[in-house]
Amino acid sequence: MRETASKAVTLVTLRINGRAVTVPVGTSVAAALAMTDSFVSRADLSGRPRGPLCGMGVCFECRATIDGVPEVLMCLTPCREDQEVVTDA
Ligand code: FES
Repeated sequence: MRETASKAVTLVTLRINGRAVTVPVGTSVAAALAMTDSFVSRADLSGRPRGPLCGMGVCFECRATIDGVPEVLMCLTPCREDQEVVTDA
């Protein structure tokens, strides 16, 4: 007989560029960004949009200001309640 376990999912709400996003706890900020209507984290020197690419801290394309700290990698940062994320794009 197969047992099924039910787990309660804890949600957190953060703000990305002023927009509230609610995600399961443990979600990365980059994944939360993907749930918005824009997956752009910054612009390159010529103004072209850039977004999270590798998802593992290698490419540095996901840099954003998180809770006032600039250049934080969104892919390595878990979402927290009341977190403020500001992208450069
Ligand atoms: S997505 Fe590549 S460092 Fe974050």
